[in-house]
Amino acid sequence: MSKEVKSVEYGLEKIFEGAQDFLPLLGTDYVEFYVGNAKQAAHYYKTAFGFQSLAYSGLETGNREAASYVLVQDKIRIVLTTALNSNSPIGEHVKKHGDGVKVNALWVEDARKSFEETTKRGAKPFMQPTVEKDEHGEVVRAGIYAPYGETIHMFVERKNYKGLFLPGYVEWKTEYNPSPVGFKYVDHMVANTGWNRMNVAMKWYEDVMGFVNFLSFDDKQITTEYSALMSKVMSNGNGRIKYPINEPAEGKKRSQIEEYIDFYEGEGVQHLALATDDIIHTVSQLKARGVEFLPPPPQAYYDEVPKRLGVHKDMMKEDLKKLQDLSILVDADEEGYLLQIFTKPLEDRPTLFFEIIQRMGAKGFGAGNFKALFESIEREQALRGTL
Ligand code: FE2
Repeated sequence: MSKEVKSVEYGLEKIFEGAQDFLPLLGTDYVEFYVGNAKQAAHYYKTAFGFQSLAYSGLETGNREAASYVLVQDKIRIVLTTALNSNSPIGEHVKKHGDGVKVNALWVEDARKSFEETTKRGAKPFMQPTVEKDEHGEVVRAGIYAPYGETIHMFVERKNYKGLFLPGYVEWKTEYNPSPVGFKYVDHMVANTGWNRMNVAMKWYEDVMGFVNFLSFDDKQITTEYSALMSKVMSNGNGRIKYPINEPAEGKKRSQIEEYIDFYEGEGVQHLALATDDIIHTVSQLKARGVEFLPPPPQAYYDEVPKRLGVHKDMMKEDLKKLQDLSILVDADEEGYLLQIFTKPLEDRPTLFFEIIQRMGAKGFGAGNFKALFESIEREQALRGTL
């Protein structure tokens, strides 16, 4: 990957006034999950979500500590890592949190500088800048703790690397290659934080990473009859990295954020939103492969869609009936509309889930859907006895 290609493919336009791109971040490099059984998880994410086998590290490659499977779909890379012995921080993480996102890796020009700039602004170091080499070149990585839970931001500099993923990994060759479902890139990644913690995390992203807060939702906007939450969306300067941060709010019953924190035993990543250009195709594929989604909103929700679309009503290309058949949600803002749907939790603990999103001009996060969405979540919480 040459420097030239990057600048053509990704102009570093400054979208958000006030953001300081001292890093700068070029995009999401990979998302690493710590899991109880990476071999089986890899099979699930391939079969159900259409990820493709890319690379592997484990006993066969000389790694005695952990096994990692790297899966890819267009610009999304996920790494599934499991411990190979009981004396491992990976195993400890899984014991406490269950399967979940440990590392959100960010693609940068200069990992040493990113580490320096963020640690001097107060980031807690996780991994000093480290050079890894093989016959394909070298990668520099450095890690800092995110401002919530045990989550890590890893800076990855790969401008001098031509290999498949990272040194230490070999190509994962397999004859089992289920087709992709149309995922393109990570649209946003959401954190759940505890009481009075959202603003602390927000300030950290402003001070340490140079992000801006470009959208906020208070507990009046995100509320149902039973529960509430607050959310602030942070973005880096070029808009490629977006982190909504949630916090529970007082309601008659227990917020879904509290449920998450109880079961994850701490703060952590709530969901990854994966973008598609054709949500009807993607969701049809996912349903055929056994992916479970939140229960559909009532008919009244779909009756109100034309009103919600407002001026964008005639712009919508998708057949509303088809969207309703698949339980896909529709929202609009000044700039366009968006289509989205949420899976049930991806593991037995009600923690991490995926959102599938198709943006048709809209830059928001489906605020018009929050009520319908949270009522669906509450129905699931009631079944779990955690509302
Ligand atoms: Fe989302």
